[in-house]
Amino acid sequence: MLRGEGLVIALCDSSVPGKDEGFLADATIEWLDGVLTATPREVPVLVAFHHPPVPLHTPYVDGIRQFGEERLAALAGRHPHLTVFLAGHAHTAATTFAGRPLLVAPGVVSTLRLS
Ligand SMILES: [Fe+2]
Repeated sequence: MLRGEGLVIALCDSSVPGKDEGFLADATIEWLDGVLTATPREVPVLVAFHHPPVPLHTPYVDGIRQFGEERLAALAGRHPHLTVFLAGHAHTAATTFAGRPLLVAPGVVSTLRLS
């Protein structure tokens, strides 16, 4: 976690050893809940992880996205100062998740073009 002047960035490990898809462990969800609870409501919290938790309508990428996202969406519903989600993995796109912006970083070498 990075706590700056008027901003918190919560970095979550969405990797699953031996797998290409992502998942936030229950312990990670509990940790993130604690970070959000401990952060004053007027301070925005950016939540970052590698795997985007939504389908991006590209079959290969959608098969290795972050699963179990309903727990994260429920968490977001309890913490309105969770302001934005940041991800990588898919090398493209900006969309929304749980009513917040979800920014998926483009690749440095390759960028996936959405259909
Ligand atoms: Fe990846």
